[in-house]
Amino acid sequence: AAGDAAKGEADFKKCKACHAIVAADGTEIVKGGKTGPNLFGVVGRTVGGVPDFAYSESLKSVGAAGKVWDEAMLVAYLPDPSAWVKAETGDDAAKSKMSFKLSKGAEDMAAYLATLK
Ligand code: HEM
Repeated sequence: AAGDAAKGEADFKKCKACHAIVAADGTEIVKGGKTGPNLFGVVGRTVGGVPDFAYSESLKSVGAAGKVWDEAMLVAYLPDPSAWVKAETGDDAAKSKMSFKLSKGAEDMAAYLATLK
C-alpha cells in the first residue's frame, strides 16, 4: 500500500480517546477508550465484527452483506464514516456512530492498522 505506517501510528493519538488496540492474548498495544471497538486485527475482519460491541445498524448491515475491511475500504471510510455507510448501503438515512472524520492521512492510518495482526 502507499501509506506510511509510522505516520499512521503517530496520528493514532486522534483515535485513542475512543479506540484501544488490544492483541488477542490481551496485550494492550495502545491504551484507549471504549466508545469505539478494539482495532487490533481490523484489516481482514468483517465490518462491524467485534462480538458484543454495540455498532450502528448501518455498519452491521454492511458486515451482514459480507464486507471485510481492507486498506482501500479504510481509506474511503475514515474521512467520512457516515457518508461511507450511506454509499455502501445505498440508504440515504444510514449513519455511522463514529462522528470523527480523519481529514488527512487516511492512507497512512490504513497502513498502520494493517500492521496490527
Ligand atoms: C468504528 C477507526 C476515531 C468512534 C470504527 C471503525 C474503524 C475506526 C476502522 C470500524 C471498526 C469495525 O468495523 O469493527 C478509527 C480511526 C480513528 C477513529 C483510525 C482515528 C483516526 C474515532 C473517534 C471516535 C470513534 C475519535 C469517538 C469520538 C467510533 C465508533 C465506531 C467506530 C463509535 C462504531 C461505528 C458504528 O457502529 O457505526 N473506527 N476511528 N472513532 N469508531 Fe472510530
